[in-house]
Amino acid sequence: MKTPNAPSLQNSEPLPGQSTALLQALHLLTREGKLNQDSSRKLKQVKHLIGFIKPLVDILLEHKQDITIVDHGAGKSYLGFLLVDYYLKEHAPLARVYGVDIRADLVESARALAQQAGFKQMQFLALSAKEAIESPDLPTQVDLVTALHACDTATDDAIAFGLSHHAQFMVLVPCCQAEVARALRQTKQSDRDDPISELWRHPIHTREFGSQLTNTLRSLQLEAHGYQVTVTELVGWEHSMKNELIVASRKGPPRPAAIKRLNDLIDRVGLPALKERFFSPEMNQAS
Ligand SMILES: C[S@@+](CC[C@H](N)C(=O)[O-])C[C@H]1O[C@@H](n2cnc3c(N)ncnc32)[C@H](O)[C@@H]1O
Repeated sequence: MKTPNAPSLQNSEPLPGQSTALLQALHLLTREGKLNQDSSRKLKQVKHLIGFIKPLVDILLEHKQDITIVDHGAGKSYLGFLLVDYYLKEHAPLARVYGVDIRADLVESARALAQQAGFKQMQFLALSAKEAIESPDLPTQVDLVTALHACDTATDDAIAFGLSHHAQFMVLVPCCQAEVARALRQTKQSDRDDPISELWRHPIHTREFGSQLTNTLRSLQLEAHGYQVTVTELVGWEHSMKNELIVASRKGPPRPAAIKRLNDLIDRVGLPALKERFFSPEMNQAS
């Protein structure tokens, strides 16, 4: 399959053909049809993400019509609703979109809205991304996995879900992940005289380097599983601090060179405990 194209949807105006009633029901537009600052920011992020997702959907549609998309940490499911409204309902009516969120109240209200709006191709599940991996309510194979600002390690669980469900594409905009920063913090307490630990000595650097290291490890993990990975920014930094976009496209079997690189990097930063998070048994067999 081909590689994703760059998006062409740039500003925070509603998408072409987007229904005002839906945007109002999602509270992205006020009753008067106005955008406030927060919803303008969210709409901009979602719209830009749809700009990345649409060409991937088109690639999938070249092969089959009943494509499956799973959005983890969906929240109010802005992404799912806008994707269906703007594109799928017309161009991919057989596509199914599953919104997964740990919060049952958000899932309930998204269900009610989908019913009210007649969006039959959407379903919502009150599950953690981790629980979704084993859930019988989701298909065993999915085509596209998304996660927009899914909290903490939910992005890692979304990746694990995508890997276990053989996703062709994953589109991820991670939230802050505390796990790696926590592990880095612990290395400060132990006797580390390696100058590389200067990279995370100061608390602000622990957080920021932790975040960069997390996304680097995620990208390597995906490459290790045979994905081609593009890492870029979603929107300008002035719109969101959580702005890193990871687009992964499955190209082939696990890659021993990337597995080694991942292993070496984890060893280099002195965090062997992280191997459990970023390595799977499948990778150990391939290396
Ligand atoms: C910052 S919100 C983002 C919501 C939505 N994707 C968006 O961009 O508007 C993060 C969402 O992730 C959900 N969440 C947190 N941990 C989760 C987990 N482990 N599995 C699934 N959802 C989770 C939260 O309930 C929340 O709705």
